[in-house]
Amino acid sequence: MPTEEQQDNLTRVTRIKHQYPSEIIGLPITTPLLTWEVQSDRSDAVQLGYQFMVTDEFGITSPSEIFLGAESVEVAVDGHINTARQEKRFQVRVATQYGWTAYSPVSMYETGLASPEEFVAVAIGDGSSHGSPSPLLRKKFEVQNSISKARLYVTSRGINTTYINGQKVSDEFFTPGWTAYDDRNTYLTFDVTQLLEQGANVISAELGDGWERGKLGFMEKYDNYGSDIYLLAQLEITLSDGSRQTVTTDSSWKTSNGEIRNESIYDGTTIDYTKQQLGWHLANFDDSAWSKVTTYDFDKSSLTPRISPKVRKIAEFVGTVLATDDRTLLDFSQNISGWVQLVVDGKRGDVVTVRHAEVLEPGPKLHTAALRTAKATDVYVLGHDGVNILEPVFTFHGFQYAEVTGPAKFVSAIGIAISSTAEKRSEFNSSDVRLNRLYDNVVWSARDNMVSVPTDCPQRDERLGWTGDAQAFAMTANTLFDVESFWRSWLIDLELDQDSKGNVAAVVPDVLRKQPVIDGGDWVIMGRAGWADAATIVPWSIYESYGSIDILKQQLRSMRCWADALDNRRKGAQFLPTEFQFGDWCDPDAPEDQPWKSKVSADFVSNAFFVHTADLVAAAEGIVGSPAGVTKYSEMAQTLRQNIWQQMGEEAKTTTAGCAIALEFNIVPEEERSDVAQILADKVIADEGRITTGFLGTPLILHALSKTGHFDAAYTMLMRRKIRSWLYQVDSGATTIWERWEAIREDGSIHRGEMATASEHQENASMISFNHYAYGAVIDWVYRNVAGIAPVITNPGYREILFAPRPARGFTYSKASIHTPYGTTAIDWKINQSNALEASIEIPFGSTGIIDFPTTDSSRILINGIPNSNGARLTYGTYKILVENPKLVQYK
Ligand code: BGC
Repeated sequence: MPTEEQQDNLTRVTRIKHQYPSEIIGLPITTPLLTWEVQSDRSDAVQLGYQFMVTDEFGITSPSEIFLGAESVEVAVDGHINTARQEKRFQVRVATQYGWTAYSPVSMYETGLASPEEFVAVAIGDGSSHGSPSPLLRKKFEVQNSISKARLYVTSRGINTTYINGQKVSDEFFTPGWTAYDDRNTYLTFDVTQLLEQGANVISAELGDGWERGKLGFMEKYDNYGSDIYLLAQLEITLSDGSRQTVTTDSSWKTSNGEIRNESIYDGTTIDYTKQQLGWHLANFDDSAWSKVTTYDFDKSSLTPRISPKVRKIAEFVGTVLATDDRTLLDFSQNISGWVQLVVDGKRGDVVTVRHAEVLEPGPKLHTAALRTAKATDVYVLGHDGVNILEPVFTFHGFQYAEVTGPAKFVSAIGIAISSTAEKRSEFNSSDVRLNRLYDNVVWSARDNMVSVPTDCPQRDERLGWTGDAQAFAMTANTLFDVESFWRSWLIDLELDQDSKGNVAAVVPDVLRKQPVIDGGDWVIMGRAGWADAATIVPWSIYESYGSIDILKQQLRSMRCWADALDNRRKGAQFLPTEFQFGDWCDPDAPEDQPWKSKVSADFVSNAFFVHTADLVAAAEGIVGSPAGVTKYSEMAQTLRQNIWQQMGEEAKTTTAGCAIALEFNIVPEEERSDVAQILADKVIADEGRITTGFLGTPLILHALSKTGHFDAAYTMLMRRKIRSWLYQVDSGATTIWERWEAIREDGSIHRGEMATASEHQENASMISFNHYAYGAVIDWVYRNVAGIAPVITNPGYREILFAPRPARGFTYSKASIHTPYGTTAIDWKINQSNALEASIEIPFGSTGIIDFPTTDSSRILINGIPNSNGARLTYGTYKILVENPKLVQYK
């Protein structure tokens, strides 16, 4: 280790963060886990040790002891975070063999309340029921002295927008978000120091039905969590004399209604601006005519700090006018989750209606059948003559097109896209414009379907946290965006929603259990294969992608419980009992109205996913559990995999999904792998790459092919353009990923989405969405194989990076970068004029890269001009790689 005097001025710590989103405060009172990135002008510098500097809110600094080691991901800083309302700034410096770096930028960690009991606020609302005008709540108060600091702790049942002196306390929407409300309600903390002033102030809020009591799920059910909505707010002001003033929601608040006449996430919002109470959220407003609030009993033991990222505006799209007859038809050019901000010129009292759809029918007119019972309609009554700016609240729609009707003159419109996915973590680009568009479509399906929870789709009367879709897409989502805390929060709810046997719900938060049972319970039953396995697959994908061991610690109990539930369900028999399964859902060869009747047998699927789950639990046990756990779950998996192969193997080999699952979950014995892979590849080639798999088979099939060397078949499928392919969707003008492979047919007709599940609870059942991310899982394969960049699971989080591009005929270049916990890693390759493969790769500080480039017998590999070979391990830096006579994948 260097001495204190030795300084390494050529190395610096460029970034530092803790385990929660840096944009939020009011965090759990727990040990911060710090992750930092280093850059150096010295190619051989390595981290030998590190030291933290911790600064409290009074500016008092305390350096930690010096630690030896090269770790830089989730490093625990013990002993500094131990009370409520604590503000600490963390910095780190690292020691290299050349000396100490300077201290890093700051990571701020501010804790929330000590316990739910500290939330002394009373729950208040207006006693209304669902569908009523939005309750407005306000409280005027005086601050006697100048203010040094103010924090607002706020939550609600239903969703809220809260203001101080007329200004929103946050730029986010749908707060406090959707969690397993029966067990877990999150409160949000805001720094509102700048919003308050000495003298008269007012805190106010409006409430929406939201997920609490608004229509939710496909059975038109209201009041799923409760029939009341209410606010709990606690404003803590520290005055400059050091004294504390607290303002909380209580019976002294006043309530009334304004312009928001009703609002529903699915149906849209009606806003009558003639009923607006101008200035209601300002201090000087006269509220003497307002009523007393209703107070509610609320069990505060379920309160916990929010750890999920904000739902925010992420983009705007200008609406283009497609038609103006008795309506204005608008195209926003991208299928988004969000709403329209509309400008019209009209008269007070004019009614303006905005309807939304993802695609158009001939006419052209909006295709609204796909929305099922979601009305997706915003209605406005203009408040004054002239130009009016209209924007809904407490609702979002999944749409690319909108239709505006009413007497007012259309002026302009902007499509506002919202999402929980703020930061893009990676980029991909290639010489194939269609593949690039597919990539963009997947990025958009991810944005549109990560709104507070991971949803199946953003447009119809669903938008539920379907666990099957989530597990299928998790790895791709992880590569595209920094969604670690998004999952971290959702996985807590997944565990809370596990039943007493350990079964995992089909949707999380599990709202379906609150609804009438359809078709004998098949739909709401817990623990379905490929859905419930989100309990193991999602945490494992986070471990792989972000290198987070903490997520395995957080989820180990949940993971174990799910594997044990499966084991118990066998009641000592070899296999799981035959039960309803979603199976390889939406297999395009299944009867169109019975998407669960996939070609691959449901029994094979359920037992194979059991093996996979047991394998993942065994692996997690090895990292954060116990040796006994490793033995227990590996044995569970091992016996079952042998039995499956002996008794179900022959049948599995008859379907593409069967082969893909058997190969990917290592159910095929080693000696038979190449035969099974050949069977799979032959089927794919014989079908000209036509997709024959559904939600469970599709995310696995290209991996199963490429890992067994069948890149030709994999590319045949990836690059197919005829119907039932990814690129067919692109050619059809899709801007997001469809739910069904034939959502729009070759003759342009729209799939009716017919479903045979219609029951007394579900009229006109149909299922057709143009924005489902599950099939977008293919992008994980594209990063790993087209770009050629992947984390190595034995050293996850890109501590070890595999660079293994497999360029195919026709591709002349590809380029990808990923922001890893260590810094940016990238690969950029092209086929040059002499048909050699020229690549440049970037390895961040602290990582190792391994190269595996495609070679022929006459290839030579040069790294920075020096002959080398595949398997070479490279450290921090940028390298130029040349492969002469590379092997290019040939495909039909
Ligand atoms: C959802 C799917 C989901 C499926 C399960 C559908 O209605 O949209 O994505 O996984 O139901 O059956």
